[in-house]
Order: sequence, then C-alpha cells, then structure tokens
Amino acid sequence: MKIKLLATALCALMLSAPSWSEQDEADNNVNNGGVSSLRGNVELDTQQDPGRIKQVQRDRPTMDREYVHQPPLIPHQIRHYKVDMDANKCLSCHSWKNASETGGTRISPTHYETRDGMTLSDVSPRRYFCLQCHVPQADAKPLVENDFKPVESLR
Ligand code: HEC
Ligand code: HEC
Repeated sequence: MKIKLLATALCALMLSAPSWSEQDEADNNVNNGGVSSLRGNVELDTQQDPGRIKQVQRDRPTMDREYVHQPPLIPHQIRHYKVDMDANKCLSCHSWKNASETGGTRISPTHYETRDGMTLSDVSPRRYFCLQCHVPQADAKPLVENDFKPVESLR
C-alpha cells in the first residue's frame, strides 16, 4: 500500500514540473512589447551597456535647499567613508560631540528622535544610515523632464 502511494505521488510530481525545453522557450519569449523605458529599447533579458559612472563634484560650499524638509545635499566627496554596524565616518565630523572641532554642520535634533517622538541621547537608529537621505551630486542630465520650483520663501 505504501509503495503504491509513493509511486502515485512521484508520477504526479513528474507530470506537474515543467520540462527544461518548456522553460527555455519561456526565457526566449522575454519581450519588452515595444515599450521603451529609461533603460532604453532593449529586451528584458538583455543587459544594457551600463555607461560610465558619473564623477561626484568637487568639495564646495553648502547647497540651497529646495523645500522645507529636504535633507541637505552633501557638498563634499564621500569616497571610502564607511557607514556600517561598527563605524560611522559621517558622525566623526557631524555628531554634536565632534562638529565644533571639525567644522562639519551638527546633525539637527530630528536625528535623535525615534519614530515615536522620543528624543534619545545618541543618533536614532532610523537616522544612522546617512546616505539613505543625504546624497552627493554629479553633473548629470535629468532622466525625465522636471519643472519643480522651490517656494519663494526659500529663495
Ligand atoms: C572630515 C569631516 C567630514 C566627514 C567625514 C563628513 N563630512 Fe559632511 N561636511 C563636513 C563639512 C566641513 C561640511 C561643510 C559645512 C559648511 O560648509 O557649513 C559638511 C557638509 C555636509 C552637509 C551639508 C549640510 C548643510 O547644511 O547643507 C551634509 C548633508 C553632509 N556634510 C553629510 C555628510 C555625510 C552623509 C557624511 C558621510 C557619508 C559626511 N558628511 C562626512 C565635514 C565632513
Ligand atoms: C531618514 C532621513 C535622514 C537620515 C537617515 C539622515 N538625515 Fe540628516 N537630515 C534629514 C533631513 C530631512 C534634514 C533637514 C531637516 C531636519 O533637520 O530634520 C537633515 C539635516 C541634516 C543636516 C543639517 C542640519 C542643520 O541643522 O542644518 C546634517 C548636517 C545632516 N542631516 C547630517 C546627517 C548625518 C551625518 C546622518 C547620518 C548619521 C544623517 N543626516 C541621517 C534626513 C536624514
């Protein structure tokens, strides 16, 4: 009885799994349907030429903000600045403790707040990975047209 059950189960498995040739055919039919996206008019399974990595701009004075809660843009190089579980290079200049010595801007009080509005005595975990919100700039053309204008009061 047991053997019979096992054989039936095996048969069912073999019937339901797609054969390799069926899988190949599915892969060959990956098609963009003629839609050209930001990655160009290439088939979905084709790797687009990635182009050159843009150069981050040289260190310069701080940049104007475009809206009230904008995370300010990073006005300096950040290559090799490590931010991980053991170290945070950004805080070595921007923490309240180090800012006056290094000339970096102090992180603002919001960086000490938890999502429940509690103020901690050190950087809040949700503000630890600085590059989630702050980014350096490269001289790159916008990918899509954008006519956003900052409000008068910020200019
Ligand atoms: C060696 C010190 C140093 C390190 C390390 C450093 N910064 Fe800075 N940062 C500065 C200084 C100095 C300024 C410019 C302050 C000024 O001109 O008012 C600045 C400016 C900034 C600003 C602009 C602030 C504003 O008000 O517009 C941001 C954002 C920033 N840094 C983020 C970062 C992040 C994120 C990292 C880590 C990836 C980092 N910094 C690492 C020194 C540093
Ligand atoms: C979740 C997004 C987020 C993360 C993560 C974050 N910031 Fe910010 N940061 C902001 C926003 C938004 C502002 C502007 C408004 C404010 O102060 O909250 C800001 C402001 C700043 C300023 C300017 C402060 C001032 O008074 O002008 C500095 C410097 C800065 N952040 C550095 C850092 C550093 C260093 C880290 C990592 C330890 C970090 N931020 C992580 C969102 C973030």
